[in-house]
Formats: sequence, structure tokens, C-alpha cells
Amino acid sequence: MKILLLNFFTAAVAAQQMEIARFGGCLNETQVALEAAGTSDGVSPFSCHMESAHCGEGERWLTPMDVESEGFGPCGCDEDYDTNAYIGTCYDLSGSHQVVCAYDGSQCPENWMDLGQRFNNDHEIDESCNDESNASDNEESSCGKRCLCNYHYTSRDGPVDAGTSTYGICYNSESRTYECAVANHSCAEGEEFFGPHEGIDQYGAICNCDDTAVGACMEGGSTFSHCAVFEDSCGAGQSFTTARQLSSMSDMPSCRLCSNTWEGETPAPMAAPVSSPVSAPVNNPVSMPVSSPTNSVTAEDGGSGAFVQGSTVLMSALLYTVLSFAL
Ligand SMILES: *[C@@H]1O[C@H](CO)[C@@H](O)[C@H](O)[C@H]1NC(C)=O
Ligand SMILES: *[C@@H]1O[C@H](CO)[C@@H](O)[C@H](O)[C@H]1NC(C)=O
Ligand SMILES: *[C@@H]1O[C@H](CO)[C@@H](O)[C@H](O)[C@H]1NC(C)=O
Repeated sequence: MKILLLNFFTAAVAAQQMEIARFGGCLNETQVALEAAGTSDGVSPFSCHMESAHCGEGERWLTPMDVESEGFGPCGCDEDYDTNAYIGTCYDLSGSHQVVCAYDGSQCPENWMDLGQRFNNDHEIDESCNDESNASDNEESSCGKRCLCNYHYTSRDGPVDAGTSTYGICYNSESRTYECAVANHSCAEGEEFFGPHEGIDQYGAICNCDDTAVGACMEGGSTFSHCAVFEDSCGAGQSFTTARQLSSMSDMPSCRLCSNTWEGETPAPMAAPVSSPVSAPVNNPVSMPVSSPTNSVTAEDGGSGAFVQGSTVLMSALLYTVLSFAL
């Protein structure tokens, strides 16, 4: 039921103008110099990221505008595997030896190892690597073996599926509502952040990139410029508005990490009669005992399993809507 309400909410905001975030990246100037000198190890000096805190030591953060003007990128969160912005990678060193993705190391399951923000960046990405590819990892190239904005890490030679990375929630205990969000800096004052591995998926909060609201950069305080994950993706003189603030302003687009391109067969709901999402009752995740890491979403099953469940319920929800119209 809760999944259903969340997805109704998603369907409802689809009618509003939707915009996708622009992403920046990190530039390793040392690597640039090595490249110029012809002594580079082949690893790209530039990589797409969500915010400057994800850059390594000595690297320079490029805003989305810098990325474009300096000729790097493109950076995105769509089905193009090779241009996706990185997110963090977590590894269960002592137990299952599984890999899961999280926005950053602070959101890894408890006691899991943080493998950083750029896991397997030394891999050459297979040219044909995309949605529905088979994951691979050999000497020449790999596919599915990174944690990316749109794509979760794929175990072994499993199917690489778009829309599989999951995000956390900002939870408002007063209104008992939540909004999918990348990190606690997306939350409004008084809201609490729960990461993607804190058991929230058991409450139906399946947050894929298309569900995950981000903020925006504004010109002169009130003119929309572009959707952005964090304030360091704004240009000089621009100010950052959080997702929550943005949704309370009139005539503003709804900003997301990505749009849903992987459920092409789902018919667009026609002016579905949707009850206010604010009234959606949500169980309080605070009371949720954080499950032991071994019970967490696994790279292989849980992640995509939960995703499939979400889509199935969405399909039933849409079918139900269509039926209620017909009757
Ligand atoms: C930048 O590139 C240099 C040279 O390849 C490398 O030694 C260094 O670790 C890189 N820095 C980061 C933060 O990755
Ligand atoms: C993936 O692997 C399966 C079975 O090994 C095969 O049938 C399928 O064609 C492969 N898909 C792609 C896109 O290569
Ligand atoms: C995010 O969480 C940290 C640690 O819990 C806290 O210190 C910080 O103030 C939070 N930031 C926001 C914007 O809520």
C-alpha cells in the first residue's frame, strides 16, 4: 500500500514540468599533466560526480557549467552507462562479500567497507554497455561493475539494469511523510535522513533516481537556472534552493536525478485522480531496527528484486486507475 501511494505521488508530479539535474565532476590535474607528457596510465583525469566533497585530494571540482566550457563530460544520470555520475561503493568484507552502492561512504551498511566514490574507474567501459547488457569484467573492458547514479553494481554476469541505484529519504516525523533524497543536506530543517540501507525499503520507500528529488540553482534568488544536487553545482552569483523549498514555490519545475526511461511500456496516466501525497501515512522508520548487514539489500537479488516489486505495484496501481475511469 505504501509503495502504491509513493508511486501515485510519482505519477502525480509527472504532470508538473520535470527537469533533470546537471552534474559536475572532478579533475585530477596531475593526471592531466601526465597525459600531456605522454606518461599517463590511461585512467581518465576527469570523472562525473554529484558534489565537490566526492573529489579526491588535490582534485579540482568542476561545476556543470565548467564541465561543458572546459570540454569535459558529458555527465549524466540516464541510460548511457559511460557518462553516468559516480556514487559510492560499499563492500561486505567480513560477511557476504557483496557489493552495494550508496550515495557516499557514510551511507554504507553498518560495518561494511567504504570503497570510495570512484570504484573501478580504471576499467575501460565496454562500448555496448547499456541497459540490458550482461555484466562483464575482463582485461579489455567491463560493464556493470561500477556504482553509478542510474545503475547499481551488478554481480557476476547478471543483467545490467537501468534505474537500479537506490537513494535515501528525508523523513518528516510531524507530517509522517517522506521524500526521496540523496543525502541529509537535501532535507529541510527538522527532517531526518535515512540512507538506502537503513531498512526503509521495507516501508515501501523505494527510491530510484527518478523518484529522487534534488534542488535547483537560482539566478537573483527567484529565477530558475538549473536542477542541481548541491550548492556547489551552482554558478557564480547563483543561490541554491533545496528540493523541499523548490516544491513549495509556484511555477517551479520538479527537479529529479533522472527521468524514468526504462519503463517505456508503462502508459502515461491521464489526469489520474490522486489524493494529496501529504496525507500518505508512512510508518515511522525511526522505530525500525537497523537490520544487520547480512540482511541488507544485496547486489544480486534485493536491489533489483525490490525494484521489480515496485514496478509491479505501480503497474497494478495504473491498471486500477484505468479501471476506475472505465467503470
Ligand atoms: C591523481 O593522479 C595521480 C597520477 O595518476 C595519482 O597518483 C593520484 O592518486 C590521483 N589522485 C586522485 C585523488 O585520484
Ligand atoms: C546475456 O546472456 C544470455 C545468456 O547467457 C544470452 O542469452 C543473452 O543473449 C545475453 N544478452 C546480451 C545482451 O548479450
Ligand atoms: C547532516 O548530518 C550531520 C551529521 O548527522 C549533521 O552534522 C549536519 O548538520 C546535517 N546537515 C543538515 C543540512 O541537516
